[in-house]
Amino acid sequence: VTIIFKHPDGEETRVDSPVGETVMRVAVEAGIPGIVGDCGGNLSCATCHCYVDPAWGSSLPNMSADEETMLESALDVTLESRLSCQIVVTAELEGIRLMIPESSL
Ligand code: FES
Repeated sequence: VTIIFKHPDGEETRVDSPVGETVMRVAVEAGIPGIVGDCGGNLSCATCHCYVDPAWGSSLPNMSADEETMLESALDVTLESRLSCQIVVTAELEGIRLMIPESSL
């Protein structure tokens, strides 16, 4: 599954991911700056904050209450914000574009 990370400078990095992986792990393994995943995906750090391209927002399951709570501690949160450790890669997400917040660099 191809995941496209858009950096704050407009550059994009395309990464191939297996189904079932979380977007946070895909980003960390690919060395995407701005996605750190300090807590290992346990919803206790918000260092995996990203923006989901609005075209893809409706393809994702809704946020859990825990994700919403943790997201409050991220910087520059918008309606497109998600914690990437909570996004599991599925075949339907082929070509999804995620923007890295400038404040995460
Ligand atoms: Fe810590 Fe996502 S990796 S909240």
